[in-house]
Amino acid sequence: MEIFKKKEKIGEKIREIKKTGKKIGFVATMGYLHNGHISLISKAREENDIVIVSIFVNPTQFGPGEDFERYPRNVNRDIELLEKEKVDIVFIPDADEMYKKDHKAWVNVEEYSEILEGKLRKGHFRGVCTVVAKLFNIIQPDRSYFGWKDAQQLIIIKKMVDDLDIPVEIVGCPTLREKSGLAESSRNIYLTEEEKQKALCLYKALKKIEEMAKKGEKNTKKLIEEGKKIILSTGGVELQYLEIVNIENLQPVEKIDNNTIVLGAIKIGNVHLIDNIFL
Ligand code: PAJ
Repeated sequence: MEIFKKKEKIGEKIREIKKTGKKIGFVATMGYLHNGHISLISKAREENDIVIVSIFVNPTQFGPGEDFERYPRNVNRDIELLEKEKVDIVFIPDADEMYKKDHKAWVNVEEYSEILEGKLRKGHFRGVCTVVAKLFNIIQPDRSYFGWKDAQQLIIIKKMVDDLDIPVEIVGCPTLREKSGLAESSRNIYLTEEEKQKALCLYKALKKIEEMAKKGEKNTKKLIEEGKKIILSTGGVELQYLEIVNIENLQPVEKIDNNTIVLGAIKIGNVHLIDNIFL
C-alpha cells in the first residue's frame, strides 16, 4: 500500500495507472474508520483494479462552533485497517495542501444544499462538494463510493456530477448499523452507553414509519407525526428534523411512493446524529 501526502506525487502515480487502462475505485473519508467505511472499500475492491482511499478532515464543511477541532482522528489505526482491506493507495493531504491561503473557487449545488442538513449547517454542502470535486480532479476515479447513511450528501454529489459532467460513476452503498440498529458513525465515539440507547429513538422512529408504510399508510403527515412522537418522548434528545422527501430531488412529498426516503436528525448534548430509511 502506498501513501501519498502531496497532490503532485499522487498525480504522477495516477498518470501511470491511467496508461495501463486499469479502473480506479475511490472512497473519500474523513478517517476514524468504522465498518460503514469498510463496506464502501470492500465494494470498491470487488469492482475495480485499483482502490484509492482519501483521509482528510475537510475544514470547509464544518461551520463555526461545529466539531472540526475535536473530530476524532487516528491515522495510524486507519492505515492498519486499510492495509488489511488490500487498499492500493491512500491519500492523506494536509489542509494547506488542499487549500491555498487565497482559495476562492467553490462548488455549490443550489437549493439541494439549503434544506434539511443544509438548513442546520450553513455552507456545509458547499464545503463537501468543493472538496469532493477537488478529490475527483486529483484522483480521476472511474467509480466513487458513497454511503446512503449520508443520503442528502449522496444525492447532492450525484447532482453535482451530473450537472458538471464530471466523468465518474457514483455508487451508493447501504447503511451499516451496529447490532442495536444504531447507524455506524465516527461521531458515535462521543456518546456514552446511556446516550447510545437514547440515540436509538431516531432509528426506532424511522422503523415505525417504515412499518406503517408497509401496512399501507401513505399519508406523510400522519407517518411523520407518529415518528416524531417516539423522538419527542425520549428525554435528553432534541429533534432537529424528520421529513419524507423524494429520493432524487429531496422535495417533500404528501404521499409516499417507490421513490421516497424518510430522513431525520437529532442532537444529544452537542452531538449531531443523522439517519434515514427508504420507504
Ligand atoms: P465520512 O463521514 O468519513 O464518511 C465517508 C463515507 O462513508 C461517506 O460516503 C459516508 O456516507 C460513508 N458512511 C459513513 N457511515 C456509514 C455507514 N454507517 N454505512 C455506510 N456508509 C457510511 O462523508 C464524509 O466523510 C465527508 O463528507 C466526505 C465525503 C469525505 C467529504 O469530506
